[in-house]
Amino acid sequence: MHQPALGLLRQPATILVGRGQRHALPQHLPSGTQRALIVTDARMAQEPAFECMMRQLKDSGIHCTTIADVQPELPVADILAAKEKLAGERVDVVVGIGGGTCMDFAKVIAILLTYGGKPQDYYGEFAVPGPTVPVIAVPTTAGTGSEATPVAVVSDLDREMKVGISSPHIVPVTAICDPELSDSAPPALTAAVGTDALSHAIESFTAIRRPATPLLASERVFVGKSLLTDQYALAATAAIGRSLKTAVKGDADPARLAVARDDMVFAAMAGGLALGTGGTAAAHALQYPVGAATHTPHGVGVGVLLPYVMEFNRPARVTEFAALARAMNVGNGQEDDEQLSHLFIDRIAALLTDIGIPSTLVGLGMPQGEERWLATQAMKATRLVENNPRTLDIDALETIAAAAFRGDRQLVHAATATR
Ligand SMILES: NC(=O)c1ccc[n+]([C@@H]2O[C@H](COP(=O)([O-])OP(=O)(O)OC[C@H]3O[C@@H](n4cnc5c(N)ncnc54)[C@H](O)[C@@H]3O)[C@@H](O)[C@H]2O)c1
Repeated sequence: MHQPALGLLRQPATILVGRGQRHALPQHLPSGTQRALIVTDARMAQEPAFECMMRQLKDSGIHCTTIADVQPELPVADILAAKEKLAGERVDVVVGIGGGTCMDFAKVIAILLTYGGKPQDYYGEFAVPGPTVPVIAVPTTAGTGSEATPVAVVSDLDREMKVGISSPHIVPVTAICDPELSDSAPPALTAAVGTDALSHAIESFTAIRRPATPLLASERVFVGKSLLTDQYALAATAAIGRSLKTAVKGDADPARLAVARDDMVFAAMAGGLALGTGGTAAAHALQYPVGAATHTPHGVGVGVLLPYVMEFNRPARVTEFAALARAMNVGNGQEDDEQLSHLFIDRIAALLTDIGIPSTLVGLGMPQGEERWLATQAMKATRLVENNPRTLDIDALETIAAAAFRGDRQLVHAATATR
């Protein structure tokens, strides 16, 4: 029977993508802005590009306060401390300039400046009461897509794993995606964040499709597969297929390298639009405990797990994997969907190996024998588990983890055959 599809997209009001677009920042401040809070990290704060942006804001008559020491993993205590330092100060806009960590810091401090309290008060979905001080996101990595998403991910000493704040109210009002800011990313960082973008495209495109009830968009921040997010997931997949390898490995021709880097910045933003409404699934659920145990970058952990999760989900998503394969020009045009779906997983696994992502959890430094623990922890990421196209229980997650330890995708079928 025909199941009506939902189309939903939560997005910044303005998205600028292109070389040199960072210079447009002063023109895109909300009207009436006099005071801006700039959030960045120590690396970016030293960059001439950053100094130039600050000068342009000052020349436009904007008073800037800067937080320039955002730390990896984004500890909540840092955000709270920053809020306390800002007590009484007027902030008209928060500008996050950096990787996902800086952009997520900007989102959370905007919540605290608007509604008070501490980050913990807003964990989970729909806990932010309304619009916040506007956030402008300027990414310097081509990966997380945070510039376009309704989520911020923080770490909390009281919790084993990182935790999300998800609300339509924290989508940045403006995203300025300038590839010149990510040109400096070294190969390992480019590979990790590019893999993150790839996983956003694949997991949102193959996510669960929920009945399109009129309440769905208000009941969930991440609604699963949707007509509108699908378009961005396909576009991101195509761009990553063309360009991730070149962006990581470089090219003797600077023009070709620039095209690849431009493609990856677009793919990250498009992947963010897809993930921000569609949501991600099992690879992200399993990465949370893997990241906590190994302290490896989010994108690398997701990349290790992705082919195993795809293999598990493939029987339920043959048409979708075939569509993604076509977007990446996989195959010779003669294959049917079933064949293409297999070829696509092979292609993703090969691409990830090519750019240096380990192919097993052992290669990532995960201690052997932790399959059950990983599965138990991953089950706690309810919104991700529920977003998977095939039902996940603890045994299924354990089987996927076991396959990822042993480096054998076919092992995922051992459990599925008996279920
Ligand atoms: N909000 C979302 O939608 C979302 C989605 C995925 C991931 N995340 C979160 O984003 C964070 C990861 O963000 P990230 O992967 O962008 O990394 P990051 O922001 O943590 O940065 C990683 C390192 O790269 C450096 N760096 C950044 N840009 C650089 C550049 N152009 N050249 C050289 N070095 C550069 C940083 O200084 C830092 O040392 C994690 O906390 C993750 O949970 C958020």
